[in-house]
Amino acid sequence: MQFENTIEFARAADAADSLKNFRQQFIIPVIDGKEQVYFLGNSLGLQPKATAAALQEVLTQWATYGVEGFFMGNKPWMDYHDSLTPALAKIVGALPHEISVMNQLTVNLHLMMISFYRPMGKRNKIICEAKAFPSDQYMFETHIKHYGFSPEDILIEVAPRAGEHTIRTEDILAAIEIHKDDLALVLWGGLNYYTGQVFDMAAITHAAHAAGALAGFDLAHAAGNIELQLHQWNVDFACWCSYKYLNSGPGAVGGVYIHERFHNDISLQRYAGWWGYDKATRFKMEKGFIPINTAEGWQLSTPSILLYAAHKAALDIFEQASMPALHSKRLQLSNYAWWLLQQLPIKNFTILTPDNTAERGCQISLLMHRNGKAVYDALMQDGFITDWREPDVIRFAPVPLYNTYEEVFCFVNKLEQLLSA
Ligand SMILES: Cc1ncc(COP(=O)(O)O)c(C=O)c1O
Repeated sequence: MQFENTIEFARAADAADSLKNFRQQFIIPVIDGKEQVYFLGNSLGLQPKATAAALQEVLTQWATYGVEGFFMGNKPWMDYHDSLTPALAKIVGALPHEISVMNQLTVNLHLMMISFYRPMGKRNKIICEAKAFPSDQYMFETHIKHYGFSPEDILIEVAPRAGEHTIRTEDILAAIEIHKDDLALVLWGGLNYYTGQVFDMAAITHAAHAAGALAGFDLAHAAGNIELQLHQWNVDFACWCSYKYLNSGPGAVGGVYIHERFHNDISLQRYAGWWGYDKATRFKMEKGFIPINTAEGWQLSTPSILLYAAHKAALDIFEQASMPALHSKRLQLSNYAWWLLQQLPIKNFTILTPDNTAERGCQISLLMHRNGKAVYDALMQDGFITDWREPDVIRFAPVPLYNTYEEVFCFVNKLEQLLSA
């Protein structure tokens, strides 16, 4: 697409967009009568119009059948999980039985650590990204202490080189190679929440395995955003949340991928609960944990069907749109934003997100050189919903399901006005 810096071009691109009608399936926030330009799908995705009816359907089923709703009604709750995994399998590139929809992200990271962080002798180190999302850092810290180790001895953080903002793949691979004799696990982000950098998960997994370690990923900012092929990349496990790009609501139910090679591995430790118990014999209520021989075997508790219903309403939209079409529009929107930013005469900012499209998803992070907070406040005031990350970063994420080229044009235009004011 040959970009132009005009609103006419942006409107023509929207008119030609094969996904343009999907925006109508979402509730676009309106504040003081003004429709907002919502660029925060990287934080909380917008509400699908179908969500309310999906929740109501569960409430009606509950009202009508009480506990029998598990077995009766339009969508019996007992098998509701199975209606979520086919769509998620396409989104994360997995086999449906490699996915369990359960809990929330930090809880699931802890659960995966129980199974996949198996320190043995001196092979007890974990490699992670420096400045990982704080919840991940707290997870590492407390989990490592639980084993009686000290985080300083166990965690190896790979950081950007001096003067650089993003982490070079070669430096990640070099760290894995250096620690190959004492490495237990590489647990990395799919896409860094601050810089927007996408990591080479295939290369990281390959290197971790070559070093005799396991590889897992936190896909909070990756699921529903970038292309993922977890099974093909041979990733051992991954966890994500569903409230960002997956539009499943605040505190939505999380997801876990566990490669099928682990499903029957009885040597793995896990924290178990009755919902992970073999379905055929669960209600015999007997002693001795027998796991379901899929990723569902990591479930602990009775799932929240209300959260499942909100998730299903959102996933249905992904099914209609298809991942290849979404990836193609994501790239175009992001490239347009990138190109417009390059045209600005005054650049009081550095773009933290890599230029290379393989290392970029929806999100673009602007490191503001001065008056960043004032620029952010003025954007918000004018209905451009972005976010501010201390000390000096504005993040914005045009999302292919509901954002438009015109919104991207107007945003960069507004930024130009503010930067030159
Ligand atoms: C990269 C990353 N990891 C972990 C979390 C924590 O997720 P949760 O609050 O669902 O546990 C977040 C939340 O935004 C995140 O962005």
